[in-house]
Amino acid sequence: MSDKRVYTLPTKDEKYKLLESKNNEALKGGGEARIEAQHGKGKLTARERIDLLLDEGSFEEIGKFVMHRCKDFGLDKQYYLGDGVVTGYGTVNGRLIYVFSQDFTVFGGSLSETHAEKIVKIMELAMKNGAPLIGLNDSGGARIQEGVVSLGGYADIFYRNTRASGVIPQISAIMGPCAGGAVYSPAITDFILMVENTSYMFVTGPNVVKTVTQEDVSAEELGGASTHSTKSGVTHFSCANEVECINNIKALLSYMPQNCEDDAPMVAYESKADEKVPSLNNIIPDNPNQPYDMREVIEGIVDEDSFMEVHKNFADNIVVGFARIAGRSIGVVGNQPASLAGVLDIDASTKGARFVRFCDCFNIPLLVLEDVPGFLPGTDQEWNAIITNGAKLLYAFSEATVPRITVITRKAYGGAYDVMNSKHIGADMNYAWPMAEIAVMGAKGASEIIFRKEISEAKDPEAKLQEKVDEYTEKFANPYRAAHRGYIDEVIMPEDTRSKLIKAFKMLENKVDTLPKKKHGNIPL
Ligand code: HXC
Repeated sequence: MSDKRVYTLPTKDEKYKLLESKNNEALKGGGEARIEAQHGKGKLTARERIDLLLDEGSFEEIGKFVMHRCKDFGLDKQYYLGDGVVTGYGTVNGRLIYVFSQDFTVFGGSLSETHAEKIVKIMELAMKNGAPLIGLNDSGGARIQEGVVSLGGYADIFYRNTRASGVIPQISAIMGPCAGGAVYSPAITDFILMVENTSYMFVTGPNVVKTVTQEDVSAEELGGASTHSTKSGVTHFSCANEVECINNIKALLSYMPQNCEDDAPMVAYESKADEKVPSLNNIIPDNPNQPYDMREVIEGIVDEDSFMEVHKNFADNIVVGFARIAGRSIGVVGNQPASLAGVLDIDASTKGARFVRFCDCFNIPLLVLEDVPGFLPGTDQEWNAIITNGAKLLYAFSEATVPRITVITRKAYGGAYDVMNSKHIGADMNYAWPMAEIAVMGAKGASEIIFRKEISEAKDPEAKLQEKVDEYTEKFANPYRAAHRGYIDEVIMPEDTRSKLIKAFKMLENKVDTLPKKKHGNIPL
């Protein structure tokens, strides 16, 4: 008698069924209960987020059946297809993007060796094929059971984030926990968006903080969206919910090219016979010390509803954001007289510099709207290195080779005149409105210094000071001295600004400018 077992080969249909069941299994992530728990926290799943982000039916998954290789701490009995991250490619408004979306329902979205390998794979595809990379982060950090292998995986990602910087746009959404060294991948990318109340980022959490510094602080207070969008400036967008977050990613992408060798998409624009905007004539108050909102100027110049402000709640003495002018994508940097009189300080300088560098990396022309009384004085600023930080903005503008246009709406004083995209540091076109004041300093301060002796010896020092202030104001508190020298190309009526800029950006569209041959510059960090 033979005890040979008969092995029947599976049929084609059975093989198809196996594939189907594996596909279904992968779609379930960590299972129904964990998906429910995720929803219970007001969060979407990794796949639901991808569905919201990408054009319907465009997602192609890569590595759906990847599993971890860890055998320690019981993981040899716990496997989930996909290993806690959904990766692949698809389109957003018809344009190719690569995406990874961490699945919190699988080991808390923690990063294992294979989870990292999946991310690295799509990063390399994104780099080789020149398309943006979007990371949707929701993770408990390093897969604790895997130890150093997980740390290696993070480093593999950081390294590629850095290599990709300036080659393809990289956007990170934080939609859950992002703690420890994990924060450094988003930090290297171009833009970070956070969801209010359900996401946080910190290098060390509240418990460690309590042990080391005895501070009592909640996760939200330490590293929530509102903290990072206002205090630290780590995040560029604080979003009320996940849908808003994903819509912001889509909007951001619409202003960007696919890679550094591409141009941003043009939006259809029907030119008007008359692009005059009379309301711009009435924004600047007669009193030069009275504030106004630079956003009103921006709205009056750019295409209707096209302005998308970046870093809105951080360093609001400078306004930065994307817009379109006659359908062309531009980056706007404006001093904000409505906050701290538009003065430049450390935060404003770093905010501006980072934005300028992004635009320059990705061929997005720059429009600078200038009303700046100078740099902020004080020990706080000096001791925290306004010198080094202010230099970042100066360096960023000086290095930028994209078309660059400045409009001085009112004040352009001192070093800040030079820094804010002056002709001297390479701006292509410099305009000024008739109320522009371009001088080393304000008339009163200047008179007190250069006429000190004359004023103190006068019979009526107050009257003498006023006389000198008037004289200095007449000479310098206008745009004409600078225009005589050619530092200003044209003094224009505010209402004509939009039409001038439409023509000037068109004129500059084929600009070619290159930096001297170098490995890379050494921006003051
Ligand atoms: C493995 C993890 C995990 C991790 C969570 N899980 N984090 N598994 N490694 N890092 C698992 C949990 O065991 C649990 O599994 C499931 O994910 C959900 O976790 P919960 O704790 O139930 O969720 P919640 O209460 O929402 O808390 C989320 C959390 C917490 C705050 C993120 O899980 C947590 O503190 N995790 C550890 C965070 C951490 O210390 N990570 C290492 C940081 S250091 P079950 O099976 O029950 O569903 C780091 C270094 C990176 O990341 C360095 C790079 C250079």
